[in-house]
Amino acid sequence: MSTGRTKKEQLRVHIRWMIRRDMPEVLQTEQESFEYSWTEEDFLRCLRQRNCIGMVAEQGEKVIGFMIYELHKSKLHIMNFAVLPAYRRFGVGAQMAAKLISKLSSHRRTRVTLAVRETNLAAQLFFRVQGFRATRVMRSYYEDSGEDAFLMQYSFAGDTADDSDSEAVNRISQFEES
Ligand SMILES: CC(C)(COP(=O)(O)OP(=O)(O)OC[C@H]1O[C@@H](n2cnc3c(N)ncnc32)[C@H](O)[C@@H]1OP(=O)(O)O)[C@@H](O)C(=O)NCCC(=O)NCCS
Repeated sequence: MSTGRTKKEQLRVHIRWMIRRDMPEVLQTEQESFEYSWTEEDFLRCLRQRNCIGMVAEQGEKVIGFMIYELHKSKLHIMNFAVLPAYRRFGVGAQMAAKLISKLSSHRRTRVTLAVRETNLAAQLFFRVQGFRATRVMRSYYEDSGEDAFLMQYSFAGDTADDSDSEAVNRISQFEES
C-alpha cells in the first residue's frame, strides 16, 4: 500500500497506565487488530494478576494504542500489543516498545519477550526493527489456529541469556498439570 507520504511523519503520544475507562477504546483497537481477538473478560482476567500491567498510548484524549505485559523476575513479557489501524506507521508502536525497553536494567530485568504468530509478518518486522530477535519456534502454540509462534526477545546491552530458564519452568508446570 502506498501512502504517498514523502517525509516520515511521527505522532507524539503520551503513554500512561491503563484505567477501566479506557476499555471500550482498547477493545475497539483489539478487534480491529486481530482475527482471534481478546474479549473484555480476557483483558480483565489478565490484568487481575498481580504481575500484569496495562498501558495505553494517548493522542490528545484519544487512546490509539495499548500494551499488556507481565513482570517476571528477569524479564518483561508482552501479552498483547496493538495500535489502532488508522494510526499505524507513525511511530506509535515504536514509542510503546521504547517505553518497555526503558524499564530494563543490567542488574534486574534484562529482557523483553513476546510470542508472535508465524503469519504475523508485520509484527515480526516491527519488533525486529525495534531490536528484537527471534530466538525460538514454539510449535502449534496457538490453540485457535494451530499456528506456530516465534519467540522474540530484546536483550539489554550485554545480556546473553536466552529464554531457556522460563522454558524449564513451563515444562515443570505442564508436567504437574498432566
Ligand atoms: C505491529 C504494530 C503494533 C506496529 O505499530 P506501528 O505504530 O504501526 O509501528 P511504527 O509506526 O512505530 O513502526 C516502526 C517501524 O516498524 C516497521 N514496521 C511497522 N509496521 C510494519 C509493517 N506492517 N510492515 C513492515 N514493517 C513495519 C517499520 O520499519 C516502521 O518504520 P517505518 O514506518 O518508518 O517504515 C501494528 O502494526 C499493530 O497494531 N499490528 C496489529 C497487532 C499486532 O500484530 N500486534 C503485535 C503482536 S502482539
